Amino acid sequence: MFPLLLLALLLGGMLSIVIYTLRTGISPMPTLGKVRRQLLPLIEPELEGTVLELGAGWGTLAFALADRCPQAKVVAFELSPLPFAFCWLRQRLAPRANLELRRQDFLRASFSGASVVVCYLFPGAMARLAPKLLAELPPGACVLSHTFALRGWKPERSLVVDDLYRTPIYLYTVPAQAS
Ligand SMILES: C[S@@+](CC[C@H](N)C(=O)[O-])C[C@H]1O[C@@H](n2cnc3c(N)ncnc32)[C@H](O)[C@@H]1O
Repeated sequence: MFPLLLLALLLGGMLSIVIYTLRTGISPMPTLGKVRRQLLPLIEPELEGTVLELGAGWGTLAFALADRCPQAKVVAFELSPLPFAFCWLRQRLAPRANLELRRQDFLRASFSGASVVVCYLFPGAMARLAPKLLAELPPGACVLSHTFALRGWKPERSLVVDDLYRTPIYLYTVPAQAS
C-alpha cells in the first residue's frame, strides 16, 4: 500500500510540473552555481528594500538572495505547486526571517516600492514583464535577469558567465518616466 501511495504522489508531482510548465511557459529549472556566484555580487549586501524573485522554482535564488541581503525583505513568487511546496518545506526546516514565499502569479502582484527584481524566465515572460516593470517600479530600481534580456532596454551592466552556455547576466536600472 505504502509504495503505491508513494508512486501515486511521485507521478502526481511530476504531472503537476508538466502542467505548470505548459501553463507558465517555463520549467522550474534552477539557476546553476556558476551563474549564481556571478549574479549575487551584483546586489549590495547592505540593501534594505524589497527584493522580488519572479518565479522561485525550488528556491535556489530566493534563499541565496535572503542570505546575501539580510536587511532586505525577499518576496519570492512561484505558481507551480511542487516547487512551491519544496520552498515552503525548506523555509520550515531552515527559516530565513527575511524571506516571504507567495504561491501567486507575479504578473498579478504589485511591484511598487521594490528596490530589486530578479528573474530567470523566458522571452515571452520578459516581453510581458517589461511594461509592468516600467509602470510599477520606482525610478532607480534594479532588474537583474540572466539568460534572457529585456528587449528594448539598455542594460547598465552585462556580463557573460564562463559556463557551458555562456550565460548572459543583465543588470538594468529603471529610468525616470518621461512626463
Ligand atoms: C527557470 S525557473 C527559475 C527558478 C529560480 N528563479 C532560479 O533561478 O533558480 C522559472 C520559474 O518561474 C515560475 N513562473 C513562471 N511564470 C510565473 C508566474 N507568472 N508566476 C509565478 N511563477 C512563475 C515557473 O513555475 C518556474 O518555476
